[in-house]
Amino acid sequence: MPNLPTHRPRRNRKSQVIRDMVQETRLTTHDFIYPVFLIEGQNQQLEVTSMPGIHRFTADRLIDEIGRCLELGINTFAPFPAINDALKDRLARESANPEGLYLKTVADIKRQFPDAVLMTDVAMDPYSSDGHDGVVDAESGEILNDASLEVLGQMALAQARAGADIIGPSDMMDGRVAWIREVLDSNAFSHVSIMSYTAKYASAFYGPFRDALDSAPKKGDKKSYQMNPANRREALRELALDEQEGADMVMIKPALSYLDVILDVKNHTNLPVTAYNVSGEYAMVKAAAQNGWVDGEKTMMEVLTSIKRAGADAILTYFAKEAAEVLRRG
Ligand code: PBG
Repeated sequence: MPNLPTHRPRRNRKSQVIRDMVQETRLTTHDFIYPVFLIEGQNQQLEVTSMPGIHRFTADRLIDEIGRCLELGINTFAPFPAINDALKDRLARESANPEGLYLKTVADIKRQFPDAVLMTDVAMDPYSSDGHDGVVDAESGEILNDASLEVLGQMALAQARAGADIIGPSDMMDGRVAWIREVLDSNAFSHVSIMSYTAKYASAFYGPFRDALDSAPKKGDKKSYQMNPANRREALRELALDEQEGADMVMIKPALSYLDVILDVKNHTNLPVTAYNVSGEYAMVKAAAQNGWVDGEKTMMEVLTSIKRAGADAILTYFAKEAAEVLRRG
């Protein structure tokens, strides 16, 4: 007769109490950063077709929504604006307009909820007539790195003036963290943090987000600045640069297809590591759940737990509110 097992890992799974005791990763609402979409107008909220349960809010409605989220224990928000086409131009000038939709709303939110933490997005795409994150050369169609820095720096400064707590450069231009840090520091905003999109991949998972904001590139793709999904070591190179340039926190985006990158970055830095569970990842779970193919709630919690287990200290996720409701129920 073969020997019976002496090692029995199942003993640590034998009851709910023991399973809870040995659980390694636990989600809390402190882990969540909630990306929210802002549109012009009043008293309206429009569901994003490809993101069931996620709405584009007018400023007044967004403020109500943030109030509800704060009650649920979500304290950090990442607003993204949908800008009218008439206001878009080559240099994304609207991005630094303190009276524009985005900055006015950021200031309004901070006035209403001074303790809410706002992470604002630095990239040209919502305001660019080209739909790119940087300046496009009118003749060659190339993305001009150093001309973009100028625009991104002014955008970041305007956001800091509006009350942003954390600046989130999502543009992937070289040198922008150092540039933005310098602009902030020399204008008395040394207290404003930078969460760098350190490894942002040229991903197909951004589709629903671009629907929501109508921000898809008019021509070409973003592969000359966003990273190749096939690369892991390159993320460590970007990490080293972001640390050198003064980032306070680093981010990996998307999350679910990049758990190895999250772990690797975590193992190579002492900075807080965050991950962006992006629109397409949200949409996949929702679509399967609506078809009855997976249990939406359990899948959501498993996805978020796995991102945290991989090493994320915080997660930008469209599931934030729903997951907070689940956590509250216990
Ligand atoms: C662009 C930006 C994108 C997202 C956040 N900022 C899309 C893109 O690079 O085209 C995507 C987020 C998501 O899919 O949820 N600066």
